Amino acid sequence: MSEYKDNGITIEELKDRIDIVDVIGSVVNLKKTGANHKGLCPFHSEKTPSFIVNEQRQTYHCFGCGEGGDVISFVEKYYNLDFLDAADKLAESIGTKIKRAGRRNEVSDRLLEMNRKAAIFFYKAMRSGPNEGLSYMAGRGLDAQTMRDFGIGWADGEWTSLHDHLAAQGYSDNEMLEVGLVSKAESGRIYDRFRARVIFPIMNSSGKVIGFGGRAIGDAMPKYLNSQESSVFKKKYNLYGINVTRQYIQKENMAILVEGYMDVISLYQAGIKNVSASLGTALTENQANMLRRYTKNVVLSYDADEAGQNATARGMDILKDAGCDVGIVIVSDGKDPDEFVKKRGKEAYLDLVRGALSFADYKFMRAKENFDLETTAGRLGFLRRAVQILRELSPVEADMYIRKLARENDISEGAIRAEMEKAGQTEKSDRKKSETPPQEVTADEKKLLRVLFTKADYLEREKEYLEVFETDAARGIFNAVKEVYEPDHEIDIGKLMDILEEEEQITVRRILDDEMLGGDVQAMYDSLIKGTQTKKIKEREDELITLISMAENVEDPEKIREMMQELREIQRELSVRRK
Ligand code: CTP
Ligand code: MN
Repeated sequence: MSEYKDNGITIEELKDRIDIVDVIGSVVNLKKTGANHKGLCPFHSEKTPSFIVNEQRQTYHCFGCGEGGDVISFVEKYYNLDFLDAADKLAESIGTKIKRAGRRNEVSDRLLEMNRKAAIFFYKAMRSGPNEGLSYMAGRGLDAQTMRDFGIGWADGEWTSLHDHLAAQGYSDNEMLEVGLVSKAESGRIYDRFRARVIFPIMNSSGKVIGFGGRAIGDAMPKYLNSQESSVFKKKYNLYGINVTRQYIQKENMAILVEGYMDVISLYQAGIKNVSASLGTALTENQANMLRRYTKNVVLSYDADEAGQNATARGMDILKDAGCDVGIVIVSDGKDPDEFVKKRGKEAYLDLVRGALSFADYKFMRAKENFDLETTAGRLGFLRRAVQILRELSPVEADMYIRKLARENDISEGAIRAEMEKAGQTEKSDRKKSETPPQEVTADEKKLLRVLFTKADYLEREKEYLEVFETDAARGIFNAVKEVYEPDHEIDIGKLMDILEEEEQITVRRILDDEMLGGDVQAMYDSLIKGTQTKKIKEREDELITLISMAENVEDPEKIREMMQELREIQRELSVRRK
């Protein structure tokens, strides 16, 4: 193990490694409700829980007293500590400590300097005369100026060239291992990790060499070998090329974000210099924030293949969340920007950039690819997906796109707006549901359970009423009732109580004692069943209305007539039911 590993962790790493739910859960009794965890607020006195912990965002918030923040601020407030002591306390709980700036800098300065010496070594090797790397890069059209701007080098095929060079300057094997410039064989032998590869030094925004990418010549595998993560190289916090290109990004007030080393380099050499790469990985939030510091305007130009398009879909959300305006370019010739710009030149690529799809355009395009718009089911599916997308947009944008969608897809504006309205309502009621305590049995569930307690043989008709059970609490009791049920016998309440949890027992007692549930059990059951059926019919009515309003101009008239007929019947049925 290297001598640097026990140097502690950064605040960022701390937050990655601990879970706010564990930390708060150890001092506050938390219950999971929907996506959140809920409990009694430790910062003010309350009887009903209004203190929410959001696992996904790793935050907490109290709707009662307004306290809120992340895991460190929780520990600060709860134990009355300052920021650093709170962070230390958390780090200690996972057996480490927070890195102190002084020591970290000394160590990483040395490693960064070693990396810089390695980069120079590779660069000189590249320029020192004919070698495979130079012919390979020349074959890919790179000129000397570009190679100099990006410091592109060559690692020869020997086993210890770099190692010997660095050792002679006083660097230890452990230091070289730490940043992944060398590897250790089982025999203990140390050898250069990058061999017979073109070297792309990866620099951070202040120009320090933090890592390397090495491309194999020809088809050797793996195609790219990258520095491992280390105390100086954190891939997710860096963007390739940014040290060279950020001045152009600022000048143009726009960044073109690509996937690979060669995309950056080829665009740059073609004169499109406001470019950077996320290096094959999915774009991280951190990289997005970094770009955002230079410009708000980002054009994503990933590879045209499936992987590239999936990365685009994720990346654009992350960029949008970071506050960027995103445009999307898909190259129409070649697999990536590198190939496109070589075939078609600078102006053709800039045309693509000028015609970049907007965030919404791109999402609608992808959504359309996933549905067969020739069929009714496909059109309904597309409409629902489109509504999800519309709901991510600002109201003004959404309004514009509703018109556009209607025009381009022969769906009436009314159908889209109605669907949006519906989606809005479900969201509201979902939110309401997750805020009521999970154990609250609904009024209908109580009625139904009361029926089953008295008319045990109805247990065999569960198809009629199963949907009435919505909460876990009621379902738990229902399952217990089924467990103790014996055909031709009443439910043995004593036996039932024996197998219930305490909270369930209380619920059952309440149901049995509830005067309001007495009286005509048969009538209560009938009206419950009728209510469930009515709900189902109404849902079908909604669906038919949507289908019909979408179908005009497209569907065959016979189908539309059938749907109209069904709708009329349903509406007649509903009006009878209302009486
Ligand atoms: N990548 C990687 N390791 C691999 C393959 C890819 O780290 N084995 C990263 C590299 O940063 C690469 C990027 O993902 O630049 C995009 O991959 P790909 O499209 O396969 O490479 P290209 O950039 O097209 O490489 P080239 O043009 O040299 O073939
Ligand atoms: Mn590529």
